[in-house]
Amino acid sequence: MQAAVITQYGGNEFLELRQLPDPQIKSGQLLVRIHAASVNPIDWKVGQGYFRLIPGQKMPCILGSDFSGVVEAVGAGVKGLLVGDEVMGLAAGGVGHTFAERIAVAAKFVVKKPANLSHQEAASLPLVGATALAALRNKVKSGDKVLIVGGSGGVGSFAIQYAKSLGAEVVATCSLRNHEMVTELGADQVIDYQNSDPATQVTDASLIFDTIGDLDPDKYWGCVKRGGAIGSTGTGPRDMHALVEKYGNRFWLMFGAVDALKQKIRGKRGHGVGYNMIFAMPSQSGLAEIARVAEAGTVKPVIEQVFPLSEISQAFELSQAGRVRGKLVIDIAGNA
Ligand SMILES: NC(=O)c1ccc[n+]([C@@H]2O[C@H](COP(=O)([O-])OP(=O)(O)OC[C@H]3O[C@@H](n4cnc5c(N)ncnc54)[C@H](OP(=O)(O)O)[C@@H]3O)[C@@H](O)[C@H]2O)c1
Repeated sequence: MQAAVITQYGGNEFLELRQLPDPQIKSGQLLVRIHAASVNPIDWKVGQGYFRLIPGQKMPCILGSDFSGVVEAVGAGVKGLLVGDEVMGLAAGGVGHTFAERIAVAAKFVVKKPANLSHQEAASLPLVGATALAALRNKVKSGDKVLIVGGSGGVGSFAIQYAKSLGAEVVATCSLRNHEMVTELGADQVIDYQNSDPATQVTDASLIFDTIGDLDPDKYWGCVKRGGAIGSTGTGPRDMHALVEKYGNRFWLMFGAVDALKQKIRGKRGHGVGYNMIFAMPSQSGLAEIARVAEAGTVKPVIEQVFPLSEISQAFELSQAGRVRGKLVIDIAGNA
């Protein structure tokens, strides 16, 4: 099969297409012919070596996190999915090996693809959906005010729609050029973060979901009601690059977690506000919820551009520039 692999950690120059043997399934797994996968920043962060302690990175390493495709073989013990089923899944953040024509994946990380979505649309949802669910599901109730920082990105565009589906009043930040898009996604109030300070414009939020991951909690405690919380896809004011520069790419995450813990203590003691690191974890119940809201049309995929697998490094460059609106999708079955 054809696959996009890295041959060593570093920049996009180490990303190349290779012919590799098809993966073999074990019990509990499915062999899926992948039609489309989506680009998530963690994919190229793994490629750059920032997450090298996460298992599954033997070189040449196939990157990728989520996918949509068709089941080609079913391992022993798998129930409810058959050869020929159209499915979507989240194999793992960054080391899911989804930028390839086939994947052997645990059936518990796969659900049936909603019939109303194309493979490209379905592939755009699992990782960002799992992240939004980790931040919002069972944490937001009808009438809560939720601030979503970074409303126009992959995570933010899912999170706005999902928070609205929970009945929240949604305030979102984005640059002026994305104001209309974010309003159409359902935000009740949109704040241009480049020309004004969101921290001075929000009060009484039940939850702040920082999808960008570098928000300084000390600026935002006052925006949140007592008993509310700030959730971050990062670790707070010291972003990943600053942490990597200081501690190296083996230990930065540990120091980031210590930062987050300090913020948790400061938030609780000083302001009665929680602080949580948000992690997207693959789970069948999460995927089922993502499929449910997509099937109902409550959350619609937002895709900026589709690239063939041969142009994956261009897709990575665009993602690395940090200005993507919604998602970038990699077409693997040749339907682009
Ligand atoms: N912890 C986890 O499990 C987890 C899971 C998923 C993602 N993440 C991390 O979360 C971050 C976001 O992921 P993503 O997939 O949403 O990325 P993305 O789609 O690449 O985000 C790009 C968007 O961010 C917006 N943006 C950039 N800086 C901003 C700022 N200061 N304020 C508001 N908006 C800003 C850009 O809009 P403008 O052009 O308008 O600025 C652009 O639309 C990444 O660092 C990713 O690695 C973590």
